[in-house]
Amino acid sequence: MIVAVDGPAASGKGTLARRIASALDFAYLDTGLLYRGVGVAVLDRGDSLDDAEAAIRAAQAFDPALMNDPRLRSEEASSAASKVAAIPGVRAAMLEFQRRFGHTPPGGKKGAVLDGRDIGTVIFPEADVKLFITASVEVRAERRHKELLGRGTPSIYARVLREMQERDQRDRSRSVAPMTIASDAVVIDTSAIDVEAAFQKAMAPVLEKI
Ligand code: C5P
Repeated sequence: MIVAVDGPAASGKGTLARRIASALDFAYLDTGLLYRGVGVAVLDRGDSLDDAEAAIRAAQAFDPALMNDPRLRSEEASSAASKVAAIPGVRAAMLEFQRRFGHTPPGGKKGAVLDGRDIGTVIFPEADVKLFITASVEVRAERRHKELLGRGTPSIYARVLREMQERDQRDRSRSVAPMTIASDAVVIDTSAIDVEAAFQKAMAPVLEKI
């Protein structure tokens, strides 16, 4: 069984996807880490994020162990990720890894939950359940701002908001696998509800399929 969880940054999709996976004892993959890993690898090699060939080489040589690197959580990695994620060759290199993860989940699990931007539209158009988690950009920027401050990282709300708007725009307007809502996705807006309420809403369509 495959549960696809898509949506913009700081919508709460990661928290929900992790909770769904844990409730069902399914494997969980945060696919944003793949693109963050490629972005960081490009920067580590001293290459430019605008160099598509360099990004494709980094994607083809991608080492999944990099997904545990704490640097992937930085704002620099987020921004680098959304740049390399717009390169078709980078997405092609990441496709197989994601499909394999869903079809043969690690640890012999009976299913997988993947979160990202194009899981229900491109990676698994046949997913058993598709969720699209969203929230207003102001609420998402506020969450990210508080999270950064909580981690001891200096942050200015107006700047976080601007960067989030830019990243949304890049993710929605790219020509390959843009972030769109699958026609058969259940949309959950988390702007005004807490994690518990969002989790209940997210589990309803999942429980119908079990
Ligand atoms: O979800 P996260 O914020 O970690 O993703 C970082 C960036 O990676 C996104 O802004 C997006 O550009 C890209 N991404 C993507 N497709 C996915 C997951 C992430 O294009 N499935």
